[in-house]
Amino acid sequence: MTAEQAKERIEHLSKEIEQHNYNYYVLDNPTIKDYDFDMLLEELIKLEKQHPEFLFSNSPSQRVGGQITKEFKTVKHKYAMLSLANSYSKDDLKDFDERVKKGLGITSTDLFGSDIEYVCELKFDGLSISLTYEHGKLTQAVTRGDGVQGDDVTTNVKTIRSIPLTLKGDYIDFFEIRGEIFLPLNVFNDINKEREEIGDAPLANPRNAASGTMKMQDSSVVAKRKLDCFLYYMMGDNLPAKTHYENLEKAKAWGFKISPYTKLCANIDEVFNFIDEWDKKRNDLPFDIDGIVIKVNSYIQQQQLGFTAKSPRWAIAYKFKAEQVSTVLEEITYQVGRTGSITPVANLKPVLLAGTTVKRASLHNADIIAKLDVRIGDHVFVEKGGEIIPKIVGVDLSKRKPDAEIVKYITHCPECGSLLERREEEANHYCVNENGCAPQIKGKIEHFVSRKAMNIDSLGGETIEQLYNEKLIHNIADIYELKKEQLLPLERMAEKSVNNLLEGIEASKQIPFERVLYGIGIRHVGETTAKKVARKVRNIDALINATEEELVNIDEVGGVIAKSVAAYFSNSENRLMVERLKRFGLQFELSEEQLQSTTDKLGGKTFVISGVFQKHSRDELKDLIEKNGGKNTGSISGKTNYLLAGDNMGPEKLKKAEKLGVTIITEDDFLTMIA
Ligand code: IVH
Repeated sequence: MTAEQAKERIEHLSKEIEQHNYNYYVLDNPTIKDYDFDMLLEELIKLEKQHPEFLFSNSPSQRVGGQITKEFKTVKHKYAMLSLANSYSKDDLKDFDERVKKGLGITSTDLFGSDIEYVCELKFDGLSISLTYEHGKLTQAVTRGDGVQGDDVTTNVKTIRSIPLTLKGDYIDFFEIRGEIFLPLNVFNDINKEREEIGDAPLANPRNAASGTMKMQDSSVVAKRKLDCFLYYMMGDNLPAKTHYENLEKAKAWGFKISPYTKLCANIDEVFNFIDEWDKKRNDLPFDIDGIVIKVNSYIQQQQLGFTAKSPRWAIAYKFKAEQVSTVLEEITYQVGRTGSITPVANLKPVLLAGTTVKRASLHNADIIAKLDVRIGDHVFVEKGGEIIPKIVGVDLSKRKPDAEIVKYITHCPECGSLLERREEEANHYCVNENGCAPQIKGKIEHFVSRKAMNIDSLGGETIEQLYNEKLIHNIADIYELKKEQLLPLERMAEKSVNNLLEGIEASKQIPFERVLYGIGIRHVGETTAKKVARKVRNIDALINATEEELVNIDEVGGVIAKSVAAYFSNSENRLMVERLKRFGLQFELSEEQLQSTTDKLGGKTFVISGVFQKHSRDELKDLIEKNGGKNTGSISGKTNYLLAGDNMGPEKLKKAEKLGVTIITEDDFLTMIA
């Protein structure tokens, strides 16, 4: 293929891939199989590798991320990012309508044309973003910050598939477009499920999760979070139309994701109808909204009305009353999680809220209880926010009985009676009796047999409960001692299900080391960490004997994880259990095949990868570094041994490497090192 042909193919593939992204993420109407899409992307990435001179900054290959932003650059907004004035009632909105009319010199005595056209939109609950497009290419994405200046998060924003990197149609050459980045509710719930699996505290709500994600330094992690974005306001000198509504339609034609729930209203009464409709339907949406935004449609009128110091006079936000009810707090109970974390739960007098009966609400931790100063028997206000279970937001003091009982936070585990611990910098109390506390034991077994770990799907939650109650299993190693004659007499255990169960258990002995390591449930050791650690230490004995310093030297392992691993193996019960599992034949070392592809040739050496490479992608190179015992880091420091330099590397990095005396090597040098 000549260079010219490669360039053409790259351009063709980029267009096609972006069209498929658009079909999938904007139109919600995919027209290609996932596999075929992956093939196109793979071909593009390969061609770009062979012809790095044609790797354009807006190539769809950028959507998978990989670039690290050490520090986000502060950028001044071309147009300040103002916020909106709030309103909470229809009276407030009537006043707004009057102010607008007055500002435009329209009097109520005008018989004709006295009504203003308003555009009603949903008020998305995420973080606002300003995107700049030049000649049809996304050139910059900046957060709101303080409204005057924000953070340049372009690299992270490029991973959001519904944001076009290249526009189509009759777009104008320079403009900014603003919108809201948000985390769809199903993605938020999935993330929390996963966090729970590794014993991490759940993210509080989708809004915080979205803004936290935007601040992440590693764009490949951002790419995995599946953020989405609606655009709602265009700015520029030569906008295509004279009204906001038409400009949104234009933006839609250029490839932006514009909310389908936008309505042009002929007067304030139609605005009220829109509000009433969405107040009812807002819980059915796949994302969170916290109100409605009302904007004057005509740009000439917008200009006439202008701005106050803080917000436009031509727009206003109507905030929904968070659905709130008052009910009685009858009791506080405490739940113990798989990792021993204690969650206080408010048991309420059942009450209807946003269409469901609420009996329980989370109280999170001791600090929150103290802050609310909530007492048993109090009338409390309960709200449904983005969280899965409702929360208590306040106490109705006017109804407090003089004998309302002050909450004494528990000091001992409600399940096993052990003294609770509260570690520094942690909000939750913990029961540390991990091998003697029923919900922790059962939770650990559930985690061990789960799909991503040992995958014994014939051993579900109910069976675990049953076997635990029958005193047949007390920890994960006991699973491997289960005998057919013990199981057959049990309720719901027919011959067939017993055989299934035993076969599943036997098959799990072939599960590779990294998944066994994930399965034993060391706190903070998720799937990825387990994989990295397994590759580095190669067998469990090396891990048991590793010091905290040695552990921290493994890629992806920070101080918290290292401490947690060390603490786990310092417990003799855990070591004993591992010994038993070993005897049963579980995999506690890398397989021959895995071993052959791993060496320690780069042992103890730290690498920084920068630029574009000819033979391998950056991810492949990272993988090779790890497989050969080296460590990847994002930025050059005194600890860096090698800078693996490709084409188009930033001059700053090169300078810094030279200054610090870091050895600079090419891709070929590197391949020779590991040959
Ligand atoms: S328009 C100058 N439209 O609400 C007006 N904002 O307090 C620009 N928001 O910071 C904002 N949905 O983050 C507009 N449909 C929508 C919106 C919206 C959510 C957010 C935005 C803004 C805040 C206003």
